[in-house]
Amino acid sequence: MPIHILGTGSYAPEKVLTNHDLEKMVETNDEWITTRTGIRQRHIAADHEATSDLATHAARMALEASGLAADDLDLIFVATCTPDMAFPSTATLVQENIGAQNAIAMDLSAACTGFVYGLEVARNMLECGRYKTALVIGAEKMSSIVNWEDRGTCILFGDGAGAVVMSSEAGGQGGIGPCNLGSNGALGELLMVPAGGSRRPVDAQVLIERSNTICMAGQEVFKHAVTNMTQTAKHLLAEAGWDPSELNLVIPHQANKRILEAIRIRVGVPKNNVYVNVDKYGNTSAASIGIALDEAVRSGRLHPGDKVMLLAFGAGFTWGGMLLEWRTPES
Ligand code: UT7
Repeated sequence: MPIHILGTGSYAPEKVLTNHDLEKMVETNDEWITTRTGIRQRHIAADHEATSDLATHAARMALEASGLAADDLDLIFVATCTPDMAFPSTATLVQENIGAQNAIAMDLSAACTGFVYGLEVARNMLECGRYKTALVIGAEKMSSIVNWEDRGTCILFGDGAGAVVMSSEAGGQGGIGPCNLGSNGALGELLMVPAGGSRRPVDAQVLIERSNTICMAGQEVFKHAVTNMTQTAKHLLAEAGWDPSELNLVIPHQANKRILEAIRIRVGVPKNNVYVNVDKYGNTSAASIGIALDEAVRSGRLHPGDKVMLLAFGAGFTWGGMLLEWRTPES
């Protein structure tokens, strides 16, 4: 049973934090950030805005684009590593906000790979035939877990949300194809928020150490991101029987422009066929692919017949990719 994307949406908070703004906060400079990462600015949520608020904006846009009503939704998944709170889930908060009273809702935790994991879980549940429609959202308020005194990480992250509405009924534009996912818990320590969970709840010492914020071995993460996303891309191309030159658009997790270029070269994707918006948003973790996909759709970058690849890598480590084929809605 083919599963389709019916509509996409995205949201980034109003406040923009530029590299020049960061120069006033930590020992860094625009030139270093731009050259090493490609990032020029990131959006930062207001104090009163939580992840569910960002997710709700993206969800409403995706719903409107899909032509469905909130009541039509059977499943709502929110991929996030920055939920509003431990429970209730961010997904149930979104369910209430949009009035999707017939849906079941839950969060998924796979860090920056969460959106692709969410698409695959939703696709499989739709294929089973028991559910017909799903809303999958990647949403993050990364600014809430960033150590704003650590120049090695605080320059990287931003806030935002991206969403898709999927359906098992005909009419969608984005046909969902093969998916390949992976995890390796042995490398978890290279990218983590060490405290703030049940292993080490927040106490005075945690606040002094700031161990309830992101700790990352940047160079190690960089290498694993390139290796795993390259392998995933090659695996998917082999499975689909596609040549890399046929890929009209690769939409990777937006962590670092240099990572994206390294993957592009290793996989053999034509120049300009990798979507890059890390300059505008920084690394928005689970939100990045959803935001980029929505931008690509709304800017007319995708056309019927286009072959698209989503690629992600994140803490865990987790990684994954998915192929989409763009169609005219009725075909
Ligand atoms: O979402 C998935 C997970 N995240 C990622 O995929 C991120 C992967 N890693 C990266 O993107 C890169 O490793 C970073 C952008 C984080 C760092 O770039 P790098 O080229 O690996 O730099 P580095 O960590 O090797 O640091 C090089 C130098 C160091 O100085 P010394 O020791 O050579 O004197 C750092 O202290 O740059 C210094 N540095 C900075 N300088 C100015 C580190 N951060 C900054 C900064 N501004 N913000």
